[in-house]
Amino acid sequence: MFKYFIYIFIILIIVFIVGFCVWALIKKKSGICPFCVIKQYMLKSKLTIKVSENEFYDGGDAQTPPMGWSSWNTFRNNIDEKLILETADALVKTGLADAGYKYVNLDDCWHSSMRDDNGRLQGDLVRFSSGIDWLADEIRSKGLKIGLYSSNGDYTCEDLPASSGNEKIDAETFARWGVEYFKYDFCHNTKIPSVAPLVEAIELKQGNSIKTYSADKAKLEGMAKISKDKNLKTGKYLSFLGHGKGKAVFEVDCASDGDCDFTLCIKKCGRYEKYLVVQVNDRFYEMFIPFTKSWTTGGRYQTKIQVKKGKNVIKLFNPVCTRADSSYIQYKRMGVALKNAAGDKKITFSICEWGRNKPEKWAWNAGNLWRISPDIIPNWRWINVLYNMNIRLAEYAGPGHWNDPDMLEVGNGNLTYEENKTHFSLWCMMAAPLILGNDIRKLPDDKKTLDIISNKKMIAINQDMAGMQCVRYKKTPTFDFLMKQLADGSVAICIYNKKKNTKKVRISKENCPAEMPENSRKMKEIWTNSELSFGDILTLKGHDCAVFVAK
Ligand code: GLA
Repeated sequence: MFKYFIYIFIILIIVFIVGFCVWALIKKKSGICPFCVIKQYMLKSKLTIKVSENEFYDGGDAQTPPMGWSSWNTFRNNIDEKLILETADALVKTGLADAGYKYVNLDDCWHSSMRDDNGRLQGDLVRFSSGIDWLADEIRSKGLKIGLYSSNGDYTCEDLPASSGNEKIDAETFARWGVEYFKYDFCHNTKIPSVAPLVEAIELKQGNSIKTYSADKAKLEGMAKISKDKNLKTGKYLSFLGHGKGKAVFEVDCASDGDCDFTLCIKKCGRYEKYLVVQVNDRFYEMFIPFTKSWTTGGRYQTKIQVKKGKNVIKLFNPVCTRADSSYIQYKRMGVALKNAAGDKKITFSICEWGRNKPEKWAWNAGNLWRISPDIIPNWRWINVLYNMNIRLAEYAGPGHWNDPDMLEVGNGNLTYEENKTHFSLWCMMAAPLILGNDIRKLPDDKKTLDIISNKKMIAINQDMAGMQCVRYKKTPTFDFLMKQLADGSVAICIYNKKKNTKKVRISKENCPAEMPENSRKMKEIWTNSELSFGDILTLKGHDCAVFVAK
C-alpha cells in the first residue's frame, strides 16, 4: 500500500515539474521572465524602484502637520452643504479655526455618481446643489480652506467615480475650485501590470516626416533581448522589458524641438494588460496596452511626446515589479498632476493606501502625508494598535512629510475622558496630522472635548517647527515613555499608562530621556498645569497620560 503512495507522490512531482516547465516556456516565449513572475508573488510588497532620497513632494503646504476637520468619522456618507457650512461656522465660533484647524475636508460622498458633460467630477446634484465651487468660496470666506477626496482606483470606497486614469482632469477641477487639501484613497485600485509589451518598432512623426526604428536598432540593457518571429514585417521584436529587468534604448534624430507623435508597434500576445514607460530624455510617458485578441499579429499604440532638435534618447521599460512599485507610480502620478494643476498655489496631498505597501519608504516623494494603517474607530484597543504601528516610524516623519495614523476620534464613541486626552496627546507627540473627526457643531455642549482639542500647549508640541515625531525611549508592561525633541532645544515627554487601572510612576532619571537638558528642574504638566520636579510621583488613571516639556 505504502509503495503505491510513493508512486503517486513521485508521479505528482513529475506532473508538477513538467507543468512548471511548460508554463515557464510559455512565459518565456511571451517575452516574460518566468522567475520574475514567481519573485513578484514571493516578495513582500517592497519598493524595487529607486526613489531619489532628497526629492520630496513640494506641492503642498505641510511644513507642520496639517490641521483641520474631516466629515468621515462621524458622518460617513451622510453629508451635504448645510452640514459642511454649519461645521465651518462652528470651527470659527469655537475658536478651533484660530487654534489652527483650517481644513474643512469633505471625505467620500461629496460627489455625484455622474461626471458632467465634460467628463469632470461634480458635487452630489442634490446634496451639494449649489456646486462645490460655491461651497469652496463660502468656506474660504470664513478664513478656512476646503479639502476634497477621491480614490486611486475606478471608484471610491463608497463606489462613486474616482480618479485613476483621470488624474489630470480631476486635479485641474480641484485646482479650479481652489481645493487646498486632497485625500487620495485606495479602493478599487488595480495594480499596474508588471508585464511589458513585445515591441517590434517605434515610429516618430514630426510634420510629414515619419521615422521608423526597428527593434534591432535598440541598445539592450539588463535582461532585454531581441527575439525572432517570421510573421512580423521586420522579423524581430524586443522582449523581457518587464518586471524592472530590462531596457531598450533608442537614439533618435528629430528635425525640431516640440511635439512629436510616437507610435509603439507591438507584437500581440497574451490576454492580459501590459504597461510600458517611454522615457524621452528626462520626461516619462506611460502607455497601457490592453489585452489583445489575435486576429492579426501586430498592434499600434500612440502617445504625444516632447522632443528636442537633434539627438534624443528614448528608453522603453516597465519598472513595476511589486504592488509597492505600482502604488508609488500611481500616487506619484496624482502628485504630479496636482502640482501641475495648482501652479503657484498649494495642494496638500494626503496619501491613503492604508499602509499596505510600506508608504513610509516612498510616499514622501509623491505626497505630504500617508496613512500607515487601516481605518481608525473610536475604540481604545484599536487606537492603541494604531499608536503602536505609528510609533515605530519616527524616522520617516519631518517637515512636509508625515506619517498618518488616521484622523482623530476625540469626542466620538464611548472613549473615556482620559482616553480622549491620551489619544490627542499621542497624536500630538507623534507629529500626526490633527484632522478632527467629531461633530464640531455639538462642541459648545461638550466642553471637555473642546478643551482637549484646543489645548494650545499640546498643539504647539504637534506643530513644532523641528517636525520631529516622538520616539519611545522606554517601555515597561505598564508605561510607555515618549520623547519629542523641539526646535528650541527642549524636549516634550509623555508618560502613558497603558493599563486600565490607576498606576503610579516616579519622575526619575531612569524614567527620563538622556536627551533631557541637565538642569531641567521645574516642569509643568500640560493637562493639569501642576508643577513637576525630579523625584515626584505621578498618579495616572487607566489609559491616562502626563505630558511635560523640559527646557
Ligand atoms: C477608506 C478610508 C477612510 C475613508 C473611507 C471613505 O476606508 O480609509 O478614511 O476615507 O474610505 O469611504
